[in-house]
Amino acid sequence: MRYLSPLRYPGAKSGLVNCIRDLIIGNVKKPKLFIEPFAGGAATTLRLLADGVVPRAVIADADPLVATFWKVAATRTEWLIDRMASEPVTLDRWDYWRSYRTESADDPELAVKCLFLNRTTFSGILHGRAGPIGGRKQESAYSLDCRFNKEALSERIRFVGDLFRTGRLVAVWHSEWRATFKLFAEQFPEYGPDDVLVYLDPPYVNKADRLYSTAFASFDHVQLAAHLNHFLPYRWILSYDDHADIRLLYQNGRVQPRNAKAPHWRIQRRFVQLRYSASGRNGRGRKSELIITTLPRFPDQEIFRSVSDECH
Ligand SMILES: C[S@@+](CC[C@H](N)C(=O)[O-])C[C@H]1O[C@@H](n2cnc3c(N)ncnc32)[C@H](O)[C@@H]1O
Repeated sequence: MRYLSPLRYPGAKSGLVNCIRDLIIGNVKKPKLFIEPFAGGAATTLRLLADGVVPRAVIADADPLVATFWKVAATRTEWLIDRMASEPVTLDRWDYWRSYRTESADDPELAVKCLFLNRTTFSGILHGRAGPIGGRKQESAYSLDCRFNKEALSERIRFVGDLFRTGRLVAVWHSEWRATFKLFAEQFPEYGPDDVLVYLDPPYVNKADRLYSTAFASFDHVQLAAHLNHFLPYRWILSYDDHADIRLLYQNGRVQPRNAKAPHWRIQRRFVQLRYSASGRNGRGRKSELIITTLPRFPDQEIFRSVSDECH
């Protein structure tokens, strides 16, 4: 399967998946476990698991819709597939799901809401003011259901269930990134600093409020940087939209997690050119993406140049 995720994600950088994969393969030691704390469509985790680049993974997201989707896809796979198959893809249902609210955080219908809105809303945006694909009059060349191929989606959802059943997707959490790291340390104490690799794809610096339900303010970006620069005891790869403030937060140089067990790791930054799927009013655009990492073998310029070209 070329695309593995059942969710389209606003700003999903599918081109980056190959960069991340090559970056990991280019490093000698294969991580035993991969964590994606800002999972969204989890495209990177699914690809790395599918290709056997990492053997096990944990995904988490602060958005209850997204987290419920992954939990239900993992644990109630056939229920979700049947439920999706019986769901008419119409404007009436779009309005229904847009206004659907529930008291129960475990309501599996939230997974259907997430999938439905994600596949039928402009740019896959789940929240805010984004409208249905094709508009309210459905007069455009794109119809509401043009991204709702139930057969293909069933296959992708089944793949998620299969990963969970076979112990490759080991946990799905509804948690904010700080809680994810805390939970991980509590539940997986056997994993040491060199066993784990964390991939972080946090909300955009400029557009987070329009794309995601969870507000991610400047302060959050600063706190995340402080945590990565000084505390996280695992190696990490971070992708960001290229922004001057972010460059300031992550300087090339030494990083020193304040954890007695962790060695000193050096931070490295590289730029990748990518096409964005949700670049707002200006339509599709080519933008520079920043990759920052503590992986040791990143500076191989030749490897990176060819990786970078692939991503254009
Ligand atoms: C850029 S998207 C990730 C896209 C993902 N890499 C993909 O390929 O689909 C950022 C995600 O972070 C989540 N998020 C926002 N604030 C968060 C927080 N404080 N902790 C954890 N997740 C958060 C959003 O719900 C969103 O799913």
